[in-house]
Amino acid sequence: MKRNLKAEQVAPHIWAVGAVDWNVRNFHGYLTERGSTYNAFLVMDEKITLIDTVKAPFADDLLARIASVVDPEKIDYVVSNHSEPDHSGALPRILEAVKPEKLFASVAGAKTLKAYYGIDAEVVKTGDSISLGKGKLAFVDTKMLHWPDSMVSYYDLDKALFSQDAFGMHLAGSKLWADEYDSGVLEQQARKYFANILNVQAPKVASLIESLPSLGLEIEFMLPDHGPLWRGDWGWIVELYRDCALQKPRKRAFVAYATMWNSTRILADALADGIRERGIEVAVTDLSVSDRSAVMTEVANSGIIAFGAPTMNNQMFPAMADALCYVKGLRPKNKLGFAFGSYGWSGEGAKQIAAELEAMGVEQPVAPIQAKYMPTPEELDAVRQAGVALADALLAKLGN
Ligand code: FEO
Repeated sequence: MKRNLKAEQVAPHIWAVGAVDWNVRNFHGYLTERGSTYNAFLVMDEKITLIDTVKAPFADDLLARIASVVDPEKIDYVVSNHSEPDHSGALPRILEAVKPEKLFASVAGAKTLKAYYGIDAEVVKTGDSISLGKGKLAFVDTKMLHWPDSMVSYYDLDKALFSQDAFGMHLAGSKLWADEYDSGVLEQQARKYFANILNVQAPKVASLIESLPSLGLEIEFMLPDHGPLWRGDWGWIVELYRDCALQKPRKRAFVAYATMWNSTRILADALADGIRERGIEVAVTDLSVSDRSAVMTEVANSGIIAFGAPTMNNQMFPAMADALCYVKGLRPKNKLGFAFGSYGWSGEGAKQIAAELEAMGVEQPVAPIQAKYMPTPEELDAVRQAGVALADALLAKLGN
């Protein structure tokens, strides 16, 4: 069925032609409670160029929005800045409909597109540029942000940086520009996105940001592939990304626990109270009502991370193993940690948590505490004191 969706102009020669995915809630395991967008851009120069595509089910939306500006068959070039399927899933269909003169991708991007779709792309590298007629499109390799193939491209005529995953967030909305959204929502979603998508490559993000001035690009529009677009005020999102990338300890604490018969929950509450006693904000999460991406967001934004679980069949409770596996993969840095839990007979749970924290390089100023069956008043006091000690250690680290 023919769609009547329209493109929106974002710069003198650039149109937003991507898709809003209002309903996505599971983005490869990341809970996208506000949906997302797959942004794609049409550059209307002498060589009409499409920058990135969208997730496969949105190919018709993309074609309809393009057709509201120009006949899709008039597109000359397609650029794939990032070949993850949320940006390339629609590519085979688009290539079939558009039959462009050329498809451009990075070295790794060309390999990925070949592997996924059997498509051949012309390779571009940092320092390469292509003339679009009046303006030119320059490329900068941004390997591992977010995949090995990732690159960004810059259109000089409109001073626009197409930054693919970088400087984006998962946030669906009917407004195009970040300055039309509540800044609290933007910060929350950007921090969540960074924690779950980019934290593993935080040092590379920090160096990309440091290298931005040396690229000599005059940027007026920052156009990521997810979430709102940035005009003039893009410094805000870059600074937020810098803050996330540096992973400096924050005056916040996070206590995550799993529980079978409430013993570990009681310990978690006592621990949180001890931390709070020193004026540190603390969030407590039962893993049975949370998800990995919420846990990782809290981890990334807390100076103290404490994990508690019962022992089950000689192992830490499975929900905790899941959460720690996910968190470990995203490589949080500069954390103070603590392991605790409860057990009935063998008691491996807290020890295994402590071992995982150690493997992550998390400093543990207080030894793990475990309670047998139900915490005694003495054990509750010990855990509360552990909270106070952790808080004092964080305050000392922060120089307070
Ligand atoms: Fe939005 Fe790494 O894909």
